[in-house]
Amino acid sequence: MANRGTTLLTNLSSRSASGAVVSLDGQWKTIVDPYLTGYIGLLGAPTPRGWFRDFTPRDEGDRVEYDFDRSPELAVPGDWNTQRDDLFWYEGALWYRRKLTVDVPESGRTFVHFAAANHTARVFFDGEELALHEGGFGPFSVELTGRAGPGEHSLIVMVDNRREPDRVPAMRTDWFNFGGLHRSVSLVRVPEVFIRNAWLAMRADGSLAGEVHVDGGDDADPAGRPARIRIDELGVDAQVACGERFVLDPIDGIERWHPGRPRHYDVRFAIDGDELVDSIGFRTVEVVGTDVVVNGEPVFLKGISTHAEGPSGGRRASGEEDASILFDWIEDLGANFVRLGHYQHDEAMVAEADRRGLLVWAELPVYWGIDWTNEATLASALEQVDELIVRDRCRASVVLWSVANETLPSPERTAFLAALVGRVRELDPTRLVTAALFTLPGEGMETHIDDPLGELVDVIGVNQYYGWYYGDRDAIARKRWSSDFAKPIIFSELGAGAKAGLHGTETQIWTEEFQAAVYEQQIAMIAAQPDCAGLSPWILKDFRTPLRVLPDVQDGYNRKGLVSEEGERKLAFGVLADWYRSLD
Ligand code: GCU
Repeated sequence: MANRGTTLLTNLSSRSASGAVVSLDGQWKTIVDPYLTGYIGLLGAPTPRGWFRDFTPRDEGDRVEYDFDRSPELAVPGDWNTQRDDLFWYEGALWYRRKLTVDVPESGRTFVHFAAANHTARVFFDGEELALHEGGFGPFSVELTGRAGPGEHSLIVMVDNRREPDRVPAMRTDWFNFGGLHRSVSLVRVPEVFIRNAWLAMRADGSLAGEVHVDGGDDADPAGRPARIRIDELGVDAQVACGERFVLDPIDGIERWHPGRPRHYDVRFAIDGDELVDSIGFRTVEVVGTDVVVNGEPVFLKGISTHAEGPSGGRRASGEEDASILFDWIEDLGANFVRLGHYQHDEAMVAEADRRGLLVWAELPVYWGIDWTNEATLASALEQVDELIVRDRCRASVVLWSVANETLPSPERTAFLAALVGRVRELDPTRLVTAALFTLPGEGMETHIDDPLGELVDVIGVNQYYGWYYGDRDAIARKRWSSDFAKPIIFSELGAGAKAGLHGTETQIWTEEFQAAVYEQQIAMIAAQPDCAGLSPWILKDFRTPLRVLPDVQDGYNRKGLVSEEGERKLAFGVLADWYRSLD
C-alpha cells in the first residue's frame, strides 16, 4: 500500500521555536484490536461504524461495543510492548485516541505531525479517515486544515505492526518489532502558503546546494516563485527559485563544520509570508582513493553501531534525553562516528551528533530478505528514502546514506537497490552512498569482496564476525580483505557476545574476557588493513531481539553490546576506547 493523504514536513525545530508546534504527547486512550473489529465489518469490508467514529451511546438503549473513554491508556511517545505486559509480544492493530480541544480560530493551515509510527498507521479525525502511512521509522504529516477549528476533536490512529513479506523490513529482523506511536506527535500551524521543506548543504567544491519547496496557493511550487536565503553572519543574501535545486558560490571566510569542531550558522529560508531558520553546519565529504575525506582531510571513522533503544529498559529510544545519554556513552568511547543501525532513528539522535561534531551513517531498513520483485515493496522503500533524506539533509553530521544491510546478491536485489541509490543521489548529491554487504569467510586468510552492489556505492560496508560466528579467533589478526572496487572499506559490523558481569577466561564464550579478546584481535587486523576507512563495531548496547533466547545469558537480548541493556560497561568497552584514544 502506498502512502496516501500524507505530507513530508521538515525543519520543524525551526517552527517549534516560533510556537507553531504544539505537542500532543502524553497519555492516549487505547484499544487492542487483533481482529480489526474496529475497522472491518462482518462482511470483510471497512465498516462505516468503525471505532474511528469514537461513538458514545446516546441513550441507555444504544448498543455500542467499545468505549475509548473507559479504555486503558498508553504513553506517547513509546512502544506498546514495554508499557504493558499483556502487549509485550503483541503484533497486530492497536487504536490510539486523543481528544484535543482547539481554542484558537484556525489561521493558515494545520497538520498533525507523526515523528514515526511502526509499522502502518491509518489516521482519522472526527470520524473520517484522512491518511494511510507505511513504514515504521520515518516522519509524516496529515493535513487537518478546515477541520481543526475551535472546540473538541477526536484524533484517532490505528497502528498495525504485523510483519509482512512484502514490507520493508520484511518478516525477520535481529531486532524487536516494537509497535505503536514510538515517537512524538504534534499539531503544526503554518501559513496558507508555507515552506514544506528546505535544505542547504556544501558540495565537494565548496559551493552550497539547496532547495526550497513551497506548499499551498494555486501556484504551489513553481520554478518562478522567489525565495530568499540569508546567512547574516556571512553576509549571504541570495534570491533563488522555489521548487528547483539552486547552487550558491563558495563563501569566503566560512568556518567549516568538522568532526570534533562543530560550527553552525543560522540559515534563513524565506518566501513571502513564511520563514524558517535552521542551524546548519557546512563541510565537504568525498571519497579520494580509499579514504573518506572531510574538508580535504582523510578521516579515520572511529565508530560504533547502535539500535534505537533507550539507555535503559530495553525500549524504543526517542527524544533528546535518550539521545544525550547515548551520545555520552559514544563519546566516552572516543568515537567520532556512529552508525544509526538498520532504520531511520529519531531526529534527536542526528541533531545530537550534529551538535557534538560526530559523523553519522544513516540507514534504510532494507534488511536481509526483501520481496525484491514486488513493485509495491519498492514503492514503500522509495518513500522511506524520501523520509530519511528529506528530514536530515541539512545535518552536516550525516555523511553516509546506507541503502541496505546484508542482502544476498541476485539480479533482482541489485536492480532494486540501484533504484534506491538513484533516488538517494537525486535527492542529495552532497553525501556518500554505502551499504553493509554480507560477507562469508573465504578460504585461507584473504576474503575478496565482489558483490556487484559494490559498483553502486561510494563506500563498501563489510559486516564480518571472525572470532564469533566463524574463524579461529587467534588467526583474526592475519585476515586480509580485498575488493574489486578500489573504494574505502568500513567494517560496518564486527564483535562478539558477552553477558555483563560474567567473568572467566578468554576461551570461555559469553564472558567479558572472551569478548574483549575478540576485540583485541579485530583491532590488530584492522590496524593492518590499508584500505580500511573505519569501523562501526556491533554494537553500543545489548538490545532486545526474538532471535536470542539462551536462558540466563541472552534472555531475549543480543549480547554483542559494549554495555548491557542497563548501561553496565563490559571490558571490551575499554579495549575499544583505549585503541580509539591511541589514534588521536
Ligand atoms: C548481522 C546483522 C545484525 C545482527 C548481527 C548479529 O550482521 O546485520 O542486525 O544483529 O549480525 O548477528 O548480532
